[in-house]
Amino acid sequence: MSMDSRADQSDVHALQEQILELEKRALDELNSVRDLSRLEDLRIAYLGKKGLLTSIMKQLGNLAPEERPIVGRVANRVKSSLLEALEKAKERISSAEEPELEALDVTLPGREPPRGHLHPITQVQGEICKIFGRMGFRVVDGPDVELDYYNFEALNIPKDHPARDMQDTFYISENIVLRTHTSPMEVRVMEKQTPPVSIIAPGKVYRRDSDVSHTPMFHQVEGLLVDKGVTFGDLKGTLTSFVHQMFGRETGMRFRPSFFPFTEPSVELDIRCVICGGTGCRTCSFTGWIEILGAGMTDPEVYRFVGYDPEIYSGFAFGMGIERVTMLKHGIDDIQLFFKNDMRFSMQF
Ligand code: PHE
Repeated sequence: MSMDSRADQSDVHALQEQILELEKRALDELNSVRDLSRLEDLRIAYLGKKGLLTSIMKQLGNLAPEERPIVGRVANRVKSSLLEALEKAKERISSAEEPELEALDVTLPGREPPRGHLHPITQVQGEICKIFGRMGFRVVDGPDVELDYYNFEALNIPKDHPARDMQDTFYISENIVLRTHTSPMEVRVMEKQTPPVSIIAPGKVYRRDSDVSHTPMFHQVEGLLVDKGVTFGDLKGTLTSFVHQMFGRETGMRFRPSFFPFTEPSVELDIRCVICGGTGCRTCSFTGWIEILGAGMTDPEVYRFVGYDPEIYSGFAFGMGIERVTMLKHGIDDIQLFFKNDMRFSMQF
């Protein structure tokens, strides 16, 4: 009996020692742990269902009933001290992670967001305006939705005129259309201003047309010059100078006789096809030439609509396709590419 009691005594001591030893080791580890997943490992190792402290506490059942509370108290105190240390460690680790963020090097260059740029059509339109701007032409702007009067009537294209068949028109109503060309701007400018006049008018135009060389919306730049003594030579000189500045002095070009109701005489200007170099391809319809503009000496009939005296004044006008000019400048063989918004295409310019 006395032997048993001594044995119990030493069991109690040994167990207490074991618990205190465990507390010391656990606290050491908890105080130095640096990341949350390792902390969780420690929690499981000491306090988990199969943890070290838990298994010691299970041995309490082997002790004499009067000894259980003595050891139990120590075990419980250690348990709460470990839980507290665990909590502190968790806070310490979490707050340590933030200073790491604050340690950002603010002197490093920022990340640059991707930058856009102007559409190739807009770029070339700007270039055209610049070239004519240097020759003294002023840039004007007008509506896409246009009166029949400006789009046809005042340009000497009366209602029954066969020339209306040349243009597949989008009608808004009987008297309102999407402009089929920028020529209505000629009339709009002339009815507000007396000569001398020299303007260009870039903008969108609309025709019911769609294939490799046509889209239902495209861009033109209109040009108009009116003064005393303006000749066909001025027209040729102005447009030749434009082609030289836009495409280079060696560029092949030709004026072809043509017809427009609002100019007389009329011409079309072709540029050597840059896609095939003139041997003939799909883009130039196997002619080796690409038409970039229509032009001519303004018909006296048009002057009558705006109250100019054709006996005093003369002048020329032209209408240029910006897509055509851009295609020739950059060697693009499909007009539809301008309107697909494929970044791989657009970002090349
Ligand atoms: N408006 C004509 C067209 O779109 C071009 C043109 C403009 C012709 C000015 C002569 C004078 O085809």
